[in-house]
Amino acid sequence: MTRGLILGIESSCDETAAAVVERGARTLSSVVASQIGTHVRYGGVVPELASREHLRAIVPVVRAALEEAGVGLDELDAIAVTAGPGLAGALLVGITYAKALAFARELPVIAVNHLEGHIHAVLLQERESQPDGLAAEDEEAALALVVSGGHTHLYLAEPEQGTWRYRLIGRTLDDAAGEAYDKVAKLLGLGYPGGPWIDALARFGDPRAVPFTFAQVKTKAHLAGKAPRTKGARTAPIAALDPHFLFSFSGIKTAVLRYVELHGMRQGVNERIAAVLAGARPPKTKDEALALAPQPVIDLVASFQHAVVGDLLKKTFAAAESLGVRRILVTGGVAANRELRQRFTEEAGRRRVRESFPTLALSTDNAAMIAAAAWPRLVAGQVAESGLTAEPSLALGR
Ligand code: KG4
Ligand code: ZN
Repeated sequence: MTRGLILGIESSCDETAAAVVERGARTLSSVVASQIGTHVRYGGVVPELASREHLRAIVPVVRAALEEAGVGLDELDAIAVTAGPGLAGALLVGITYAKALAFARELPVIAVNHLEGHIHAVLLQERESQPDGLAAEDEEAALALVVSGGHTHLYLAEPEQGTWRYRLIGRTLDDAAGEAYDKVAKLLGLGYPGGPWIDALARFGDPRAVPFTFAQVKTKAHLAGKAPRTKGARTAPIAALDPHFLFSFSGIKTAVLRYVELHGMRQGVNERIAAVLAGARPPKTKDEALALAPQPVIDLVASFQHAVVGDLLKKTFAAAESLGVRRILVTGGVAANRELRQRFTEEAGRRRVRESFPTLALSTDNAAMIAAAAWPRLVAGQVAESGLTAEPSLALGR
Protein backbone atom coordinates (compact mmCIF):
# COMPACT_ATOMS: atom_id res chain seq x y z
CA MET A 1 0.00 0.00 0.00
CA THR A 2 1.29 3.40 -0.88
CA ARG A 3 -0.75 6.44 0.12
CA GLY A 4 -3.82 4.66 1.48
CA LEU A 5 -6.09 6.16 -1.17
CA ILE A 6 -9.63 4.82 -1.42
CA LEU A 7 -12.16 5.73 -4.07
CA GLY A 8 -15.63 5.59 -2.51
CA ILE A 9 -18.80 5.07 -4.54
CA GLU A 10 -22.33 5.56 -3.18
CA SER A 11 -25.59 5.01 -5.08
CA SER A 12 -28.04 3.55 -2.54
CA CYS A 13 -30.84 6.09 -2.94
CA ASP A 14 -31.16 9.33 -4.90
CA GLU A 15 -27.60 10.61 -4.85
CA THR A 16 -24.79 9.41 -7.11
CA ALA A 17 -21.58 10.13 -5.23
CA ALA A 18 -17.85 9.46 -5.50
CA ALA A 19 -14.97 10.60 -3.31
CA VAL A 20 -11.29 10.03 -2.74
CA VAL A 21 -10.21 9.78 0.90
CA GLU A 22 -6.68 9.22 2.20
CA ARG A 23 -6.30 6.77 5.13
CA GLY A 24 -9.89 7.38 6.25
CA ALA A 25 -8.80 10.75 7.54
CA ARG A 26 -8.35 13.27 4.73
CA THR A 27 -10.91 14.01 2.02
CA LEU A 28 -9.22 14.81 -1.29
CA SER A 29 -12.51 15.13 -3.16
CA SER A 30 -16.22 14.50 -2.63
CA VAL A 31 -18.62 14.83 -5.55
CA VAL A 32 -22.38 14.41 -5.16
CA ALA A 33 -24.86 14.46 -8.07
CA SER A 34 -28.32 14.86 -6.61
CA GLN A 35 -31.43 13.58 -8.38
CA ILE A 36 -33.77 15.84 -6.44
CA GLY A 37 -34.78 17.60 -9.66
CA THR A 38 -36.00 14.27 -11.05
CA HIS A 39 -38.02 13.17 -8.02
CA VAL A 40 -39.37 16.50 -6.79
CA ARG A 41 -42.57 16.38 -8.86
CA TYR A 42 -43.41 12.95 -7.37
CA GLY A 43 -42.77 14.08 -3.79
CA GLY A 44 -40.53 11.07 -3.21
CA VAL A 45 -37.89 8.85 -4.77
CA VAL A 46 -39.12 6.77 -7.75
CA PRO A 47 -36.87 3.66 -7.79
CA GLU A 48 -36.89 3.13 -11.58
CA LEU A 49 -35.97 6.75 -12.21
CA ALA A 50 -33.26 6.56 -9.55
CA SER A 51 -31.52 3.63 -11.30
CA ARG A 52 -31.68 5.40 -14.65
CA GLU A 53 -30.19 8.59 -13.19
CA HIS A 54 -27.40 6.66 -11.43
CA LEU A 55 -26.51 5.02 -14.75
CA ARG A 56 -26.29 8.42 -16.35
CA ALA A 57 -24.24 10.01 -13.58
CA ILE A 58 -21.86 7.30 -12.34
CA VAL A 59 -19.08 7.68 -14.94
CA PRO A 60 -18.85 11.50 -14.89
CA VAL A 61 -19.15 11.61 -11.09
CA VAL A 62 -16.29 9.14 -10.55
CA ARG A 63 -14.18 10.95 -13.14
CA ALA A 64 -14.85 14.29 -11.42
CA ALA A 65 -13.89 12.86 -8.02
CA LEU A 66 -10.56 11.54 -9.35
CA GLU A 67 -9.83 14.78 -11.19
CA GLU A 68 -10.67 16.97 -8.23
CA ALA A 69 -8.42 14.84 -6.02
CA GLY A 70 -5.64 14.93 -8.62
CA VAL A 71 -5.41 11.15 -8.34
CA GLY A 72 -5.10 8.63 -11.16
CA LEU A 73 -6.74 5.19 -11.07
CA ASP A 74 -3.27 3.65 -10.81
CA GLU A 75 -2.63 5.48 -7.53
CA LEU A 76 -5.66 3.97 -5.75
CA ASP A 77 -5.29 1.27 -3.11
CA ALA A 78 -8.92 0.13 -3.11
CA ILE A 79 -12.44 0.88 -4.25
CA ALA A 80 -15.16 1.09 -1.63
CA VAL A 81 -18.82 0.78 -2.49
CA THR A 82 -22.14 0.81 -0.65
CA ALA A 83 -23.53 -2.75 -0.68
CA GLY A 84 -26.79 -1.93 1.17
CA PRO A 85 -29.24 -1.14 2.61
CA GLY A 86 -30.97 0.79 -0.17
CA LEU A 87 -32.82 0.45 -3.46
CA ALA A 88 -31.73 -2.74 -5.25
CA GLY A 89 -31.44 -1.27 -8.74
CA ALA A 90 -29.72 1.87 -7.46
CA LEU A 91 -27.18 -0.08 -5.39
CA LEU A 92 -26.40 -2.36 -8.34
CA VAL A 93 -25.26 0.55 -10.50
CA GLY A 94 -22.56 1.53 -7.99
CA ILE A 95 -21.56 -2.05 -7.21
CA THR A 96 -21.29 -3.11 -10.85
CA TYR A 97 -19.22 -0.08 -11.74
CA ALA A 98 -16.96 -0.49 -8.70
CA LYS A 99 -16.37 -4.16 -9.53
CA ALA A 100 -15.61 -3.43 -13.18
CA LEU A 101 -13.11 -0.71 -12.28
CA ALA A 102 -11.50 -2.89 -9.64
CA PHE A 103 -11.24 -5.84 -12.01
CA ALA A 104 -9.61 -3.72 -14.71
CA ARG A 105 -7.11 -2.21 -12.26
CA GLU A 106 -6.60 -5.29 -10.06
CA LEU A 107 -7.79 -3.42 -6.99
CA PRO A 108 -9.58 -4.84 -3.94
CA VAL A 109 -13.25 -3.93 -3.43
CA ILE A 110 -14.41 -3.07 0.07
CA ALA A 111 -18.17 -3.48 0.69
CA VAL A 112 -19.56 -0.87 3.06
CA ASN A 113 -22.89 -0.79 4.87
CA HIS A 114 -24.57 2.57 4.20
CA LEU A 115 -25.37 3.02 7.91
CA GLU A 116 -21.76 2.35 8.84
CA GLY A 117 -20.89 5.00 6.27
CA HIS A 118 -23.09 7.55 8.05
CA ILE A 119 -21.34 6.78 11.35
CA HIS A 120 -17.95 7.24 9.70
CA ALA A 121 -19.03 10.62 8.33
CA VAL A 122 -18.66 11.91 11.89
CA LEU A 123 -15.45 9.98 12.58
CA LEU A 124 -13.95 11.30 9.33
CA GLN A 125 -14.78 14.82 10.29
CA GLU A 126 -13.24 14.39 13.74
CA ARG A 127 -10.07 12.92 12.23
CA GLU A 128 -9.83 15.72 9.68
CA SER A 129 -9.73 18.26 12.47
CA GLN A 130 -6.69 16.54 14.02
CA PRO A 131 -3.29 17.00 12.41
CA ASP A 132 -2.22 13.35 12.57
CA GLY A 133 -5.65 11.80 12.33
CA LEU A 134 -6.76 9.27 14.92
CA ALA A 135 -6.28 5.54 14.76
CA ALA A 136 -9.28 3.38 15.57
CA GLU A 137 -7.48 1.97 18.61
CA ASP A 138 -7.34 5.46 20.11
CA GLU A 139 -11.05 5.93 19.63
CA GLU A 140 -13.63 5.81 22.39
CA ALA A 141 -16.92 3.85 22.16
CA ALA A 142 -19.85 5.95 21.00
CA LEU A 143 -23.60 5.80 20.76
CA ALA A 144 -24.54 6.70 17.18
CA LEU A 145 -27.96 7.96 16.16
CA VAL A 146 -28.33 7.43 12.40
CA VAL A 147 -31.34 9.48 11.43
CA SER A 148 -32.24 9.89 7.77
CA GLY A 149 -35.01 9.40 5.23
CA GLY A 150 -34.63 5.63 5.42
CA HIS A 151 -33.38 5.04 8.97
CA THR A 152 -33.72 5.94 12.60
CA HIS A 153 -31.30 3.59 14.30
CA LEU A 154 -29.26 3.73 17.50
CA TYR A 155 -25.98 1.80 17.44
CA LEU A 156 -23.27 1.28 19.98
CA ALA A 157 -20.04 1.62 17.98
CA GLU A 158 -16.98 0.17 19.70
CA PRO A 159 -13.41 0.14 18.42
CA GLU A 160 -12.05 -3.38 18.21
CA GLN A 161 -8.55 -4.28 17.07
CA GLY A 162 -8.32 -1.46 14.57
CA THR A 163 -11.82 -1.85 13.15
CA TRP A 164 -15.29 -1.14 14.56
CA ARG A 165 -17.96 -3.38 16.02
CA TYR A 166 -21.61 -2.32 16.03
CA ARG A 167 -24.49 -3.32 18.24
CA LEU A 168 -28.07 -2.33 17.48
CA ILE A 169 -29.58 -0.60 20.53
CA GLY A 170 -32.80 0.87 19.14
CA ARG A 171 -34.64 1.61 15.91
CA THR A 172 -37.90 2.76 14.45
CA LEU A 173 -40.72 0.26 14.14
CA ASP A 174 -42.29 2.02 11.18
CA ASP A 175 -41.34 5.31 9.47
CA ALA A 176 -37.91 6.88 9.73
CA ALA A 177 -37.79 10.40 11.20
CA GLY A 178 -36.79 11.86 7.82
CA GLU A 179 -39.66 10.01 6.20
CA ALA A 180 -42.06 11.72 8.63
CA TYR A 181 -40.51 15.08 7.67
CA ASP A 182 -40.97 14.25 3.99
CA LYS A 183 -44.59 13.09 4.41
CA VAL A 184 -45.62 16.07 6.53
CA ALA A 185 -43.99 18.44 4.04
CA LYS A 186 -45.79 16.72 1.19
CA LEU A 187 -49.20 17.00 2.80
CA LEU A 188 -48.62 20.71 3.43
CA GLY A 189 -47.49 21.31 -0.16
CA LEU A 190 -43.86 22.01 0.78
CA GLY A 191 -40.91 20.86 -1.31
CA TYR A 192 -39.08 17.52 -1.46
CA PRO A 193 -37.11 16.49 0.50
CA GLY A 194 -39.21 17.98 3.27
CA GLY A 195 -36.56 18.33 5.99
CA PRO A 196 -34.93 21.55 4.78
CA TRP A 197 -38.38 23.17 4.25
CA ILE A 198 -39.73 22.28 7.67
CA ASP A 199 -36.39 23.24 9.26
CA ALA A 200 -36.54 26.66 7.56
CA LEU A 201 -40.21 27.33 8.36
CA ALA A 202 -40.08 26.07 11.95
CA ARG A 203 -37.71 28.89 12.94
CA PHE A 204 -40.60 31.33 12.62
CA GLY A 205 -43.27 29.28 14.40
CA ASP A 206 -44.38 28.56 17.96
CA PRO A 207 -43.16 25.04 18.85
CA ARG A 208 -45.74 24.79 21.63
CA ALA A 209 -48.77 25.70 19.52
CA VAL A 210 -49.79 22.05 19.01
CA PRO A 211 -48.86 19.65 21.83
CA PHE A 212 -47.90 16.50 19.88
CA THR A 213 -46.84 13.63 22.08
CA PHE A 214 -45.16 10.27 21.64
CA ALA A 215 -46.62 7.37 23.54
CA GLN A 216 -44.24 4.79 24.96
CA VAL A 217 -43.63 2.27 22.20
CA LYS A 218 -45.20 -1.15 22.82
CA THR A 219 -43.66 -3.53 25.28
CA LYS A 220 -41.53 -6.52 24.41
CA ALA A 221 -44.37 -8.98 24.81
CA HIS A 222 -46.34 -7.27 22.07
CA LEU A 223 -43.36 -7.23 19.79
CA ALA A 224 -42.24 -10.81 20.03
CA GLY A 225 -42.24 -12.27 16.55
CA LYS A 226 -43.34 -9.01 14.94
CA ALA A 227 -41.32 -8.00 11.92
CA PRO A 228 -40.66 -4.29 11.36
CA ARG A 229 -42.37 -2.73 8.37
CA THR A 230 -39.55 -0.38 7.37
CA LYS A 231 -37.36 -0.66 4.32
CA GLY A 232 -34.21 -0.76 6.44
CA ALA A 233 -32.55 -3.75 8.02
CA ARG A 234 -35.45 -6.20 8.25
CA THR A 235 -33.51 -8.82 10.11
CA ALA A 236 -32.98 -6.68 13.22
CA PRO A 237 -34.24 -8.54 16.27
CA ILE A 238 -36.78 -6.01 17.52
CA ALA A 239 -38.04 -8.14 20.38
CA ALA A 240 -34.55 -8.27 21.83
CA LEU A 241 -34.30 -4.49 22.11
CA ASP A 242 -35.19 -2.36 25.11
CA PRO A 243 -38.59 -0.79 24.22
CA HIS A 244 -37.42 2.52 25.73
CA PHE A 245 -35.09 2.89 22.76
CA LEU A 246 -37.63 2.08 20.05
CA PHE A 247 -39.06 4.84 17.87
CA SER A 248 -42.30 5.19 15.93
CA PHE A 249 -42.93 8.12 13.60
CA SER A 250 -46.00 7.04 11.66
CA GLY A 251 -48.38 8.23 14.41
CA ILE A 252 -47.25 11.85 14.37
CA LYS A 253 -47.66 12.01 10.60
CA THR A 254 -51.30 10.89 11.00
CA ALA A 255 -51.77 13.34 13.87
CA VAL A 256 -50.55 16.20 11.65
CA LEU A 257 -52.91 15.08 8.88
CA ARG A 258 -55.87 14.97 11.29
CA TYR A 259 -54.98 18.41 12.67
CA VAL A 260 -54.82 19.85 9.16
CA GLU A 261 -58.23 18.42 8.27
CA LEU A 262 -59.86 19.38 11.56
CA HIS A 263 -58.69 22.99 11.27
CA GLY A 264 -59.39 23.41 7.56
CA MET A 265 -55.72 24.04 6.79
CA ARG A 266 -55.76 22.64 3.24
CA GLN A 267 -55.99 26.14 1.85
CA GLY A 268 -52.93 27.26 -0.06
CA VAL A 269 -51.52 23.75 -0.52
CA ASN A 270 -51.96 23.77 -4.31
CA GLU A 271 -50.40 27.23 -4.59
CA ARG A 272 -47.40 26.05 -2.59
CA ILE A 273 -46.99 22.95 -4.75
CA ALA A 274 -47.03 25.18 -7.83
CA ALA A 275 -44.45 27.52 -6.27
CA VAL A 276 -42.17 24.61 -5.38
CA LEU A 277 -42.43 23.15 -8.89
CA ALA A 278 -41.60 26.59 -10.26
CA GLY A 279 -38.35 26.50 -8.28
CA ALA A 280 -39.17 28.19 -4.94
CA ARG A 281 -36.51 27.72 -2.21
CA PRO A 282 -36.99 27.25 1.57
CA PRO A 283 -37.64 30.66 3.22
CA LYS A 284 -34.82 32.59 4.87
CA THR A 285 -36.75 35.41 6.54
CA LYS A 286 -40.04 35.71 8.42
CA ASP A 287 -41.55 37.64 5.50
CA GLU A 288 -40.56 34.88 3.07
CA ALA A 289 -42.03 32.28 5.43
CA LEU A 290 -45.33 34.17 5.68
CA ALA A 291 -45.45 34.59 1.91
CA LEU A 292 -45.27 30.80 1.65
CA ALA A 293 -47.63 29.75 4.46
CA PRO A 294 -49.94 31.37 7.04
CA GLN A 295 -48.82 31.55 10.69
CA PRO A 296 -50.95 28.56 11.89
CA VAL A 297 -49.22 26.31 9.32
CA ILE A 298 -45.81 27.62 10.43
CA ASP A 299 -46.78 26.95 14.07
CA LEU A 300 -47.93 23.44 13.17
CA VAL A 301 -44.63 22.70 11.43
CA ALA A 302 -42.65 24.09 14.41
CA SER A 303 -44.68 21.91 16.80
CA PHE A 304 -44.13 18.81 14.67
CA GLN A 305 -40.38 19.40 14.60
CA HIS A 306 -40.21 20.17 18.31
CA ALA A 307 -41.92 16.87 19.12
CA VAL A 308 -39.77 14.78 16.75
CA VAL A 309 -36.50 16.29 17.95
CA GLY A 310 -37.63 15.92 21.58
CA ASP A 311 -38.33 12.21 21.09
CA LEU A 312 -34.98 11.60 19.34
CA LEU A 313 -33.18 13.49 22.09
CA LYS A 314 -34.89 11.78 25.02
CA LYS A 315 -34.29 8.23 23.77
CA THR A 316 -30.73 8.85 22.56
CA PHE A 317 -29.53 10.31 25.84
CA ALA A 318 -31.40 7.66 27.85
CA ALA A 319 -29.69 4.93 25.82
CA ALA A 320 -26.26 6.54 26.28
CA GLU A 321 -26.83 6.76 30.01
CA SER A 322 -28.01 3.19 30.31
CA LEU A 323 -24.96 1.96 28.38
CA GLY A 324 -22.58 4.21 30.31
CA VAL A 325 -21.35 5.80 27.06
CA ARG A 326 -19.97 9.36 27.23
CA ARG A 327 -19.80 10.02 23.52
CA ILE A 328 -22.73 10.56 21.12
CA LEU A 329 -22.61 10.86 17.32
CA VAL A 330 -25.64 12.08 15.36
CA THR A 331 -25.56 11.51 11.63
CA GLY A 332 -27.74 11.13 8.50
CA GLY A 333 -29.83 13.70 6.65
CA VAL A 334 -31.92 14.75 9.65
CA ALA A 335 -28.69 15.55 11.56
CA ALA A 336 -28.58 18.67 9.35
CA ASN A 337 -31.57 20.00 11.29
CA ARG A 338 -30.95 23.27 13.13
CA GLU A 339 -33.19 22.62 16.14
CA LEU A 340 -31.83 19.09 16.52
CA ARG A 341 -28.23 20.32 16.55
CA GLN A 342 -28.99 23.04 19.05
CA ARG A 343 -30.95 20.90 21.49
CA PHE A 344 -28.56 17.93 21.31
CA THR A 345 -25.59 20.25 21.88
CA GLU A 346 -27.26 21.85 24.90
CA GLU A 347 -28.25 18.51 26.41
CA ALA A 348 -24.75 17.11 25.88
CA GLY A 349 -23.32 20.16 27.64
CA ARG A 350 -25.68 19.68 30.57
CA ARG A 351 -24.77 16.00 30.87
CA ARG A 352 -21.08 16.50 30.08
CA VAL A 353 -21.24 14.05 27.20
CA ARG A 354 -19.10 14.50 24.06
CA GLU A 355 -21.41 15.19 21.12
CA SER A 356 -20.49 15.41 17.42
CA PHE A 357 -22.25 16.01 14.14
CA PRO A 358 -20.91 15.80 10.61
CA THR A 359 -20.69 19.00 8.57
CA LEU A 360 -23.87 19.69 6.61
CA ALA A 361 -22.30 18.24 3.44
CA LEU A 362 -21.33 15.05 5.29
CA SER A 363 -24.76 14.71 6.95
CA THR A 364 -26.65 13.77 3.80
CA ASP A 365 -25.61 10.95 1.47
CA ASN A 366 -22.05 11.20 0.12
CA ALA A 367 -19.19 8.89 -0.81
CA ALA A 368 -16.47 10.31 1.46
CA MET A 369 -18.15 8.54 4.36
CA ILE A 370 -18.10 5.26 2.40
CA ALA A 371 -14.37 5.59 1.62
CA ALA A 372 -13.66 6.51 5.26
CA ALA A 373 -15.57 3.49 6.60
CA ALA A 374 -13.64 1.24 4.21
CA TRP A 375 -10.20 2.26 5.47
CA PRO A 376 -10.08 0.17 8.69
CA ARG A 377 -11.61 -2.72 6.72
CA LEU A 378 -8.89 -2.52 4.09
CA VAL A 379 -6.17 -2.45 6.75
CA ALA A 380 -7.77 -5.49 8.40
CA GLY A 381 -7.89 -7.28 5.03
CA GLN A 382 -11.70 -7.40 4.89
CA VAL A 383 -11.98 -7.48 1.12
CA ALA A 384 -15.30 -8.26 -0.64
CA GLU A 385 -15.83 -11.54 -2.45
CA SER A 386 -16.05 -11.43 -6.24
CA GLY A 387 -19.74 -12.38 -5.97
CA LEU A 388 -20.56 -9.13 -4.15
CA THR A 389 -24.07 -7.98 -5.00
CA ALA A 390 -26.70 -5.51 -3.76
CA GLU A 391 -28.27 -6.27 -0.39
CA PRO A 392 -31.32 -4.00 -0.11
CA SER A 393 -32.04 -5.05 3.51
CA LEU A 394 -28.45 -5.38 4.75
CA ALA A 395 -28.32 -5.12 8.54
CA LEU A 396 -25.48 -3.55 10.50
CA GLY A 397 -23.90 -5.24 13.49
CA ARG A 398 -25.42 -7.70 15.88
O1 KG4 B 1 -29.09 10.67 4.69
P1 KG4 B 1 -29.99 11.16 3.63
O2 KG4 B 1 -29.45 12.13 2.62
O3 KG4 B 1 -30.58 9.98 2.78
C1 KG4 B 1 -31.02 8.81 3.36
O4 KG4 B 1 -30.18 7.90 3.59
O5 KG4 B 1 -32.25 8.77 3.63
O6 KG4 B 1 -31.27 11.78 4.36
C2 KG4 B 1 -32.33 12.40 3.69
C3 KG4 B 1 -33.40 12.77 4.70
C4 KG4 B 1 -34.69 13.27 4.08
O7 KG4 B 1 -35.79 12.62 4.69
C5 KG4 B 1 -34.70 14.75 4.41
O8 KG4 B 1 -36.00 15.30 4.53
C6 KG4 B 1 -33.93 14.79 5.70
O9 KG4 B 1 -32.93 13.82 5.55
N1 KG4 B 1 -33.33 16.10 5.95
C7 KG4 B 1 -33.67 16.89 7.00
C8 KG4 B 1 -32.92 18.09 6.85
N2 KG4 B 1 -32.15 17.97 5.72
C9 KG4 B 1 -32.42 16.75 5.19
N3 KG4 B 1 -34.52 16.69 8.01
C10 KG4 B 1 -34.65 17.68 8.91
N4 KG4 B 1 -33.98 18.86 8.83
C11 KG4 B 1 -33.11 19.10 7.84
N5 KG4 B 1 -32.46 20.26 7.78
ZN1 ZN C 1 -28.20 7.93 3.99
